[in-house]
Amino acid sequence: MKRQTAFYLITDSHLVSPDIWVEGKPITNRERGDQIALKATPQILDAYIDKILADEETDTVVFTGDNVNNGDRASHLDFRARLERLTAAGKRVYVISATHDYCGAGEDENGFSACRYTETGTEPIDFLRKSDLFDFYYEYGPRQAIDVHRDSRSYVVQLCGGVRLVMIDDNGNGRSHCGLFEDGTRWLENALRDAQNAGDYVLLATHHPVLPPWEVFRHMAEHELYGGYRELIALMLSYNVRVVFTGHTHVQSIRRYADEAGRWMLDVSTIALANAAGKMRRVTVDADSGVCDIQSVGIDALSDGRPVYKTLHPLNFPGIIEDLLPLGASDFDAFLTLGDGLLPTDKLRAHPHLIGFACRKAQKLKLSTAAKLGHVWRRMEPAQRRYARETALTDVVFGILRHIYPGNAPYTPQTVEYIALTGVAARLDRIVRRLHIKKAQDMIPPGSSLVEMLQDFLYNNRTGDDDAIRFSLRD
Ligand SMILES: [Fe+2]
Ligand SMILES: [Fe+2]
Repeated sequence: MKRQTAFYLITDSHLVSPDIWVEGKPITNRERGDQIALKATPQILDAYIDKILADEETDTVVFTGDNVNNGDRASHLDFRARLERLTAAGKRVYVISATHDYCGAGEDENGFSACRYTETGTEPIDFLRKSDLFDFYYEYGPRQAIDVHRDSRSYVVQLCGGVRLVMIDDNGNGRSHCGLFEDGTRWLENALRDAQNAGDYVLLATHHPVLPPWEVFRHMAEHELYGGYRELIALMLSYNVRVVFTGHTHVQSIRRYADEAGRWMLDVSTIALANAAGKMRRVTVDADSGVCDIQSVGIDALSDGRPVYKTLHPLNFPGIIEDLLPLGASDFDAFLTLGDGLLPTDKLRAHPHLIGFACRKAQKLKLSTAAKLGHVWRRMEPAQRRYARETALTDVVFGILRHIYPGNAPYTPQTVEYIALTGVAARLDRIVRRLHIKKAQDMIPPGSSLVEMLQDFLYNNRTGDDDAIRFSLRD
């Protein structure tokens, strides 16, 4: 058996079958609400599969859940047809599911309901229950597994000599606990012990994040993390498991955790495939050297030839906000049409002059205004002041928004943008503390500050690159 492996990892493809929607407000509003390019998901997934099939060096493909958007059978059948295309070409395919992949039938907290989107509304359609998933995807993981935990549908596959992949399926309750229960955790520990006894390295994959991309995520939405993430981290550290691949946040992020003894692990979270800046990961492991190399691979065009970013970016909130601002300043009707489903357009409709005034004012703001507000203007060099005076504040804000999902935001501590915006945040920190503004204090993680929260969005303060990392599984 060879001792090198290479695989692609795809997460959150959120496939929506073209059979379950027609153009209209219901699907458009759902697309806006979900913040992913739902209508284009077949063309996105097909473009990636074409790319994978063209790569003869990589024989394995891993999918880590939210494979379809709404648990409906039609989208699952379409998704499985894509898996068949991969296996027919000789690829090994391993799949786990997550909360978007089934509809709750009262057995847990999952509230998804499968529907067809008509021109004017929705109508119920056939769907998969959680209990259907194991059989439906049996050929894509469980059949090849060397160990299966039937209750959770989790399993272990041998990627190559010396390397195992543990696919931890979502065995939670569909919302507030998305992780293994006690029995599953015992199974996982046994699987890690077996691997250790065999002298094999272990990689983990699961849907929900173990380390959040930003601390404010843990603070505001801890239930969105892997249920029992602290126990999972402890298990990884004690069995020297260096990496868990996750999804769910739709954010490209590589974060490292180390304990006081210096033991460490990484959470490699991959952006949703259905994002305008979506990517898949390509992972290689050499069992002899112990080196694991992770890169990211995107596409330029959808399978029908449309350019990806140009087509998809205007669909979701970072792109819509960029387009809304000039419309609010100049074309109120177009502003309301574009904002439908995203903004409270019923309330805004009564205030065309106010909206127009606010948008025009916002367009004129310069970064220098932020620097002055943040009391850092006097400290700036002449060249920095010139740059701040010439830079539109909205462009900086759009820059931050554009990097929320793809990571690697560009405003490092040396930049004028960083100096000006953290100046404002530091001033707000002082105001919040002095005036005891309870609502703002509740938003800030204990021991943290608005400056620290903002830094997470200004530049990569995680491992330095959300797209790539190379490390030794041995260290
Ligand atoms: Fe998702
Ligand atoms: Fe998810």
